[in-house]
Amino acid sequence: MGNELSGKVAIVTGGASGIGRASVERFLEEGAQVVIADINRELGSTVAAALGSGVEFKQTDVSASGEVADLVAFTVARFGGLHIMFNNAGIPTAMRANFLDDELADFHRIMEVDLLGVMLGTQHAARHMAENGGGSIINTTSIGGIRAGTGELSYRAAKAGVIHFTKCAAIDLAHHGIRVNSIAPGAIVTSIVSTATAHLPDSAEATRRLREAMKSIRPLQQDGTATDIANAAVYYASDRSSYVTGTVLPVDGGIVA
Ligand code: NAI
Repeated sequence: MGNELSGKVAIVTGGASGIGRASVERFLEEGAQVVIADINRELGSTVAAALGSGVEFKQTDVSASGEVADLVAFTVARFGGLHIMFNNAGIPTAMRANFLDDELADFHRIMEVDLLGVMLGTQHAARHMAENGGGSIINTTSIGGIRAGTGELSYRAAKAGVIHFTKCAAIDLAHHGIRVNSIAPGAIVTSIVSTATAHLPDSAEATRRLREAMKSIRPLQQDGTATDIANAAVYYASDRSSYVTGTVLPVDGGIVA
C-alpha cells in the first residue's frame, strides 16, 4: 500500500488472530518489520509463516512480566530496535446471564490479560524506547471501557483502566519522546465473539444472537472489520500522529457518538 512505517520495527500482541493479525498485515504493507506476540503458539507460527519475510513469531503471555521482557529483547535482537508497541491482546469476560454468577478466577484473568498485560507491554517497551529515541505505544481498549452497560463488568472495568492508564502513561513518558494512545473497537466480528460464549450450553446460538446484537447498535449500517481497527493503528504508529498522545479513538461505526 504505502511506506508509512518504513524502517520501523513493531510488536503486535494478540497478533495471531482478528484485529492483531489484520494489524500485522497492515504494518507489513506499510514497510514495518513485525513481531507477532501471542499465547497461541500453533496459530502464531502458522500466521508468521504465511506472511513471509519481515515477520517473526514469539510466543508470549502478556500477563507474564518476564515473557514480555524477553519479547522486547527478542525483537531488538532480531530486527535491531523497537519503535511501535501495539498492546492488543485481550480476552472477553465469559458471558453469563447475571453478574452475581461471575467467578473470581474470571475477574483475575481479565485483569491480568486486559489491563496488566497492557501495563507490562507499555513498561517493557518504554524502557527500550526511552533509551533509543522514543516510539509509539498503542493500547487496545473497547467501547465497553467508555460506555457503561450491563454484563461483562470485569471486561468493561479492565478496558476503562486501559484508557486511564494510557492517558497517564502519555503524560509520564512524553519527555522520553514516547507517545501513548488507545483505540476503542466496537462490534468487530472476530473469534473473540465465540470465545465469549464458549462456556454456554448453546454457544452457537449465543454467538449468533451476540452478532445480531452487535449489528443492531451501530449507526453506520455496515460491518466493521479488523482492518478498520488496523488502519487506526497505522495512523497512531506512523509519524502522521506525531503530535497526538493520550487519546482514545473509537472505531465503532458511531456506537459511542
Ligand atoms: P481475537 O480473539 O480474534 O484475538 C485475540 C488474540 O489475543 C488471540 O490470538 C489470542 O490468542 C491472544 N491472546 C489471548 N490472551 C493472550 C495472552 N495472555 N497473551 C498473549 N496473547 C493472548 O480477538 P480480537 O477481537 O481481535 O481482539 C483484539 C483486541 O480487541 C482485544 O483486546 C479485545 O478486547 C479488543 N476488542 C475487540 C472488539 C471486537 O468487537 N472484536 C471490541 C472491543 C475491543
